[in-house]
Amino acid sequence: MEEIKTPIHVAIIMDGNGRWAKENNLPRNAGHRKGTKTLETIIKHANQIGIQYLTVYAFSTENWNRPQNEVDGLIKLFRKYLDEHIKKAPREEIRFNAIGDIFSPNIPKELREKILHLQEITKDKKGLCFNMAFNYGGRDEIIRACKNIASDIKLKHIDCEMINEDLFSQYLDTGHQPDPDLMIRTSGEIRTSNFLPWQLTYSEFYFTTCLWPEFTIEEFNLAIDEYKRRKRRFGKSE
Ligand code: FPP
Repeated sequence: MEEIKTPIHVAIIMDGNGRWAKENNLPRNAGHRKGTKTLETIIKHANQIGIQYLTVYAFSTENWNRPQNEVDGLIKLFRKYLDEHIKKAPREEIRFNAIGDIFSPNIPKELREKILHLQEITKDKKGLCFNMAFNYGGRDEIIRACKNIASDIKLKHIDCEMINEDLFSQYLDTGHQPDPDLMIRTSGEIRTSNFLPWQLTYSEFYFTTCLWPEFTIEEFNLAIDEYKRRKRRFGKSE
C-alpha cells in the first residue's frame, strides 16, 4: 500500500474573526485576539505532528483599507506576538519567517525591526518554519519578483535564458521552500483571495465553515485526514 504522508507545507487563510466577534456581541478586534490564540495552538500542534512549513495569511496588502481602529488593533497584536516570541525564542523550536512586502513604508519601523529581529534569532531553529504573510498580496509578490529578476539581469547576475519555473520560484518570498501541499480556508468562503497564487497551483484545497477563532486541533486534523485521502496527480494520469 502507498504510504500516506503528512503534508510538508500547510497554508491557512484564517477567515471569520469578524463574524465570530459579531456572533458573540464583541468588537471585531476581540475576534482577532481569539484568532491569535487559535493560531498559537495550531502552530504548536503542526510542529508536534511533523509539519515543516506553516504559512498563514495574517495581513494582506488590502487590509490597510479596514477601519483605522481595526488596523491599529491588528498591528498591536502583531507587536505583542513578536515581543512575546522574541522573549521566548531561546526556549522555542519554531523558525519565524515573514513573507510579504515588509520593507513597505506602510509598516511602522519598530514593527519591521521586531520582525527582522525574530527572524534573525530563530533562523537556525530546527522545528517548524512559521511563515507569517504580512502586508502580503500574491500579485504584489509576483511583481516584486519580476522587478528583482529585471534588476539582476541588468546587473548581469543572471541572463534572460536562465529564467524558468525554478528560478522564478526562488525570487518569490517563499524562496527555496516547497510549495504548500494543502491550503485550508475557514469560515465558508471558497476563494483564495490573492494568497500564494504561484505556490498554490498544485495544492489540495480544504474549505470548512468553521470560523477561525473556533478552529481547533480536531478541525485541523480533519483537514489533514482529508488531505491524506486525496490522490495527487500533478497533471499526470493515474
Ligand atoms: C480574517 O478575518 C482575518 C484577518 C484579516 C486577520 C487574521 C489575523 C489573525 C488571526 C491574528 C494575527 C496573527 C498573528 C501572527 C499575531 P475577517 O476579519 O476578515 O473575518 P470576517 O470575514 O468574519 O469579517
